[in-house]
Amino acid sequence: MHSISRPVTSNQPGIHEHLSEVVARHARSRFLKPISAHTQAAFEQGLEAWRASAAPLILDAGCGVGLSTLRLAARFPAHFVLGVDQSADRLSRALRWDGERPSNCLTLRADLVDFWRLMLAHQMHPQRHYLLYPNPWPKKAQLGRRWHGHPVFPTIIALGGLIECRSNWRTYVDEFGAALTQLTGKPVDTEALPDDPAGPLTPFEHKYRRSGHALWTCRLQLQATPVHATSAAAVARVAVPAGVRDNVVLPATD
Ligand SMILES: C[S@@+](CC[C@H](N)C(=O)[O-])C[C@H]1O[C@@H](n2cnc3c(N)ncnc32)[C@H](O)[C@@H]1O
Repeated sequence: MHSISRPVTSNQPGIHEHLSEVVARHARSRFLKPISAHTQAAFEQGLEAWRASAAPLILDAGCGVGLSTLRLAARFPAHFVLGVDQSADRLSRALRWDGERPSNCLTLRADLVDFWRLMLAHQMHPQRHYLLYPNPWPKKAQLGRRWHGHPVFPTIIALGGLIECRSNWRTYVDEFGAALTQLTGKPVDTEALPDDPAGPLTPFEHKYRRSGHALWTCRLQLQATPVHATSAAAVARVAVPAGVRDNVVLPATD
């Protein structure tokens, strides 16, 4: 990934005029799309691995090739890091890693739309939750494809944890923060992402930095909220492995 990339262009000059209406609609309604079989199987594997680790969870949502999953695992050795991406091709790419690879992580191929709902139904709450450079879907008509414009957004919030979203399109982060504020009542600021002395966390971050793009981030400490019983029943089709202890939601540390 050494190509130079062009900055995001959009026919949408700022926060989408219908953002708050869309977020409110999704918060009011139930999202009952059936869970796909492949995500259900991947979820079972992830749940079991996390429980076996007995460590607080970090979710790398949309992990791409999984380099950020490894880097987060190295940065947080007392955590278990789960990287989830829908792309088998990306996840299968060989990664260069100097020295011993961290063992406190796992990457899974799954659809996050289903995976997040399964997590909530099974009280699998991340202590940290990263959405690093999600596809921006910058056309005005594509609001519904951005995570904060998607019906799954209330589930993302209900999972709790310290959530962080990064993008090279400032409007994406502004919207994500505005949607977080709308549903939590907490203020969220968009900030310029400082250069990390440890280097970029993800390949896309690396590419955008090399291309001279400004990078943006927002973070918020979320409180996990219980899933509505009916919604839980709609997605709770995964058998919890027998004999494993209940994981507790640990307070986030920064
Ligand atoms: C722009 S890439 C960023 C990858 C990585 N986070 C990085 O910064 O290098 C966005 C990633 O999100 C993944 N993605 C998009 N929608 C997804 C979904 N519904 N479920 C799982 N992964 C998804 C894509 O496959 C892609 O790898």
